Amino acid sequence: MTYHILIADPLSEEGIYPLRQADGLEITIATDLSKEDLLERIKGFDALLVRSQTQVTREVIEAASNLKIIGRAGVGVDNIDLDAATEHGIIVVNAPDGNTNSAAEHTIAMLTALARKIPQAFNSLKNGEWDRKSFIGVELKNKTLGVIGLGRIGAEVAARAKGQRMNVIAYDPFLTEEKAQKMGIGFGTVGDVLKAADFITIHTPLLKETRHLINEEAFAKMKDGVQIINCARGGIIDEDALYGAIVSGKVAGAALDVFEMEPFVDHPLLTLPEVIATPHLGASTVEAQESVAVDVSQDVVNFFKGEAVRNP
Ligand code: NAD
Ligand code: MLT
Repeated sequence: MTYHILIADPLSEEGIYPLRQADGLEITIATDLSKEDLLERIKGFDALLVRSQTQVTREVIEAASNLKIIGRAGVGVDNIDLDAATEHGIIVVNAPDGNTNSAAEHTIAMLTALARKIPQAFNSLKNGEWDRKSFIGVELKNKTLGVIGLGRIGAEVAARAKGQRMNVIAYDPFLTEEKAQKMGIGFGTVGDVLKAADFITIHTPLLKETRHLINEEAFAKMKDGVQIINCARGGIIDEDALYGAIVSGKVAGAALDVFEMEPFVDHPLLTLPEVIATPHLGASTVEAQESVAVDVSQDVVNFFKGEAVRNP
């Protein structure tokens, strides 16, 4: 019996080694498919592997008459209609920890670049200016970092921020005082974190409950001059509210890796000098891409061998 695997987003070639090695799997790599092409082609496949770009909607799942398993080479499964998959008996597996370190490192890079206006200064220098007045930053030492969502990535970011001599306060519905004490950080409600922080970093999944968690009301609770980092998901921050909060001077800066609509070619937030951004690069390292691809590939191989999967 041969099972047909469609890889619809770019995955590390080294990472898909478990699929290439396994007997009875035929791999097709077809990235950048239009919605129509995906709907047409998915019919013949038993497994679909994606990153965050391919939207695995109910329509795609209903068209996928042979599909048995969807592998998400990464953490967030918000691009997959989980209800539709469950209704059709399709298992969804992800790679929950393969990119934790890379995403945490990217967050710290964004935090530091934001505090010291490094991208803005670099742009100015490239434009032929030697300007030492416009890019006065702030130190991280003794500032308070508010972490919203203290899971795998949030906890790594908190530990690294302590290394920068920052005070850390976190909110997570599963965080206890005891755990916070062990980690040497403060804890409180989301309101406490918003009020106390000089920098706020978001590390929740995008869920119904977290969509626009950071909205006009949340900005109103923050300190004047607060700076925000989002390397989690677009949609957790209400982008119109963020735009307004920056223009009004409430928010002094924002570092964004993720956006409500991706990909895009222009974005109103990028017209603001206070905003620095990367195109969803949090997990884009050689190590993370290999690791997440190995994890989901191995789960797909196990599944077709009738063995237990690790990350359903
Ligand atoms: P995780 O599941 O380990 O942690 C998420 C945490 O958020 C959990 O502890 C959970 O309790 C908490 N949470 C849920 N709802 C919350 C709420 N309303 N308020 C506060 N906390 C809440 O996941 P992770 O590995 O830390 O990843 C977090 C998210 O980061 C992923 O869901 C993904 O969307 C995103 N991510 C982005 C990149 C990137 O390339 N930019 C890379 C990896 C992950
Ligand atoms: C994730 O959720 O793992 C990230 O979005 C990384 C990615 O897949 O690009």
